[in-house]
Amino acid sequence: MLLEIKDIHVHYGKIAALKGISVEVNEGEIVTLIGANGAGKTTTLKTISGLRGLTSGKIIFDGRDISKMPGHKRVVAGLGQAPEGRGIFPGMTVHDNLLMGAYARTTSSSKELAEAYELFPRLAERRDQAAGTMSGGEQQMLAIGRALMARPKVLLLDEPSMGLAPLLVQQIFSIIEEINRRGVTVLLVEQNAQQALKLAHRAYVLETGRVVKSAAASDLLNDPAVQAAYLGGGLGHDEPPAQGAPESRA
Ligand SMILES: Nc1ncnc2c1ncn2[C@@H]1O[C@H](COP(=O)(O)OP(=O)(O)O)[C@@H](O)[C@H]1O
Ligand SMILES: [Mg+2]
Repeated sequence: MLLEIKDIHVHYGKIAALKGISVEVNEGEIVTLIGANGAGKTTTLKTISGLRGLTSGKIIFDGRDISKMPGHKRVVAGLGQAPEGRGIFPGMTVHDNLLMGAYARTTSSSKELAEAYELFPRLAERRDQAAGTMSGGEQQMLAIGRALMARPKVLLLDEPSMGLAPLLVQQIFSIIEEINRRGVTVLLVEQNAQQALKLAHRAYVLETGRVVKSAAASDLLNDPAVQAAYLGGGLGHDEPPAQGAPESRA
């Protein structure tokens, strides 16, 4: 197993955000965490990447207990992340943002740069543009491209489709699939449960800080309770998601 989250409890002050979450991610998988707003998805990813501390529990990555390892060392160890809300440097160019993603590398990054531009031709066209002036979809591509610059073993993605127009949502999901095909394990957090379940191998359903269900993603897609709660009341699989809002971050 590449990443194992064992019974983690996380607090914000006195408020328990995670009340014993356990998640396993095998090498080569796409695993998704779905759940309503406030369920604890972002907190789970932040805890894995080291932005939040644990009250109890353990995180094992690549055979090592990283529960107390500082976040920047986790990046070097192979945990890449594209955080919720992108987290890019708006005043810097696309190109420099990508280079920032490789800050921890000691060898040349030209191969990774070429691959990022190949995966995202849009970024290549805009390499000298200030990142903050790009559309929401382009900024999301940049956040993912930057995370890939560190050659992660696992890529943590928090709501990559958030705020994007339906066409861009499709694009982002197919790029995630391609990244996985190239050998990167993916832990994906999504409110767009329909799309996430179609893409992922396995999934966990989170509710108020707990895992209430875990199964093969295809089983959850066909699970009536999951359909009712997260897939628009069992509308059928090809119905567009209700939250397919127009792109708002242009
Ligand atoms: N910075 C914070 N301070 C206090 N409570 C927070 C903070 N961030 C998140 N929470 C709380 O933790 C819980 C989980 O939030 P979060 O992980 O962001 O959920 P999700 O990503 O599933 O929407 C929620 O109850 C939320 O209100
Ligand atoms: Mg969140």
